[in-house]
Amino acid sequence: MSKMRRIAVMTSGGDAPGMNPAVRAVVRTAAAHDVEVYGIRQGYTGMLGGDFELMTSRDVSGIIQRGGTILQTARNQEFKTTEGQERGLRRLNEHSIDGLIVIGGDGSLRGALALHKLGFPVIGVPGSIDNDIWGTDMCIGVDSALNTILDAIDKLRDTASSHERCFLVEVMGRNCGYLATMGGILGGAEFILIPEHPTPLEEIDDIIKEAYMKGKSHAMGVIAEGATPKTKEVAEYLEAQKVGFEVRVTVLGHVVRGGSPTAFDRLLATRMGVRAVELLLEGQSGVMVGLHGREMGTVSLEDATTKQREVSEYFVEMAEMLAK
Ligand code: ADP
Ligand code: F6P
Repeated sequence: MSKMRRIAVMTSGGDAPGMNPAVRAVVRTAAAHDVEVYGIRQGYTGMLGGDFELMTSRDVSGIIQRGGTILQTARNQEFKTTEGQERGLRRLNEHSIDGLIVIGGDGSLRGALALHKLGFPVIGVPGSIDNDIWGTDMCIGVDSALNTILDAIDKLRDTASSHERCFLVEVMGRNCGYLATMGGILGGAEFILIPEHPTPLEEIDDIIKEAYMKGKSHAMGVIAEGATPKTKEVAEYLEAQKVGFEVRVTVLGHVVRGGSPTAFDRLLATRMGVRAVELLLEGQSGVMVGLHGREMGTVSLEDATTKQREVSEYFVEMAEMLAK
């Protein structure tokens, strides 16, 4: 096994609260092992552009509480091609990098897998608010995003009950309903709508009308951005059906991606960053760190990027039961 003298770290895809503590943990763990760390700016765009910068422990001072990512992030189409990946590999070699840590979502981890397949040592760290990555109980950023969603739902309920309104709250999550399901359960929603469970408009109408008949002062629906039917359709249908409540829509959008990482995310990111460096030093490649219960385990990047992570049916049923 060749010694790792110089490694690189990057953040890629959608930013997530906790990416900074992860970068900090990587830089300081490497320093503790006398390994140099280069930060690659703006994900694969920076890799292709040769945007590498030496980072010391001082460069990651005061970032543990900051949202976003100091390394910045990007989406890059060129890196999806074989030519792009080979050019990326050339840039890593030009900078004498011995190993790479990629912090990002499933797309970013597919890029990491491509580099591993080209023979470059890579470790993946799951960072995405969507919680759509197979092989880890939680991704970095999910807990913070969920807390932001709950803060918004709590506030919306105040105005909803004051006006006897039905609020439809749309949350991010791409094609995954995790944030909407948990946001719905913990925010006390009357219904949730997620991509994994297309729901007929008539069913939603029944739920809201029932809530009105029961004398509830308001109603709340949490809708994942990728759900069917779409939020706008639901709003128009409920308005037309005269459900009793006036209907209002709030799309939380990118607000959910911002803000200071929670204690949970800081700890998760720190543990994952430390473990990622250790794995590189142990000579491992092509794996992703993953939270398995209380343990920090690993799964292959191949599995992490090809296996489908499902929102548990158990939680979907729990949401329905508790909304009654
Ligand atoms: P996320 O990592 O948050 O899921 P994306 O899906 O946009 O975000 O992926 C981030 C970047 O990862 C892409 O812009 C691209 O550069 C790279 N990437 C995505 N899919 C692949 C792939 N199949 N092969 C190589 N690189 C990929
Ligand atoms: O993957 C994270 C995420 O925030 C998704 O929830 C969302 O669909 C997407 O990124 C939004 O991407 P962009 O920031 O490019 O608009």
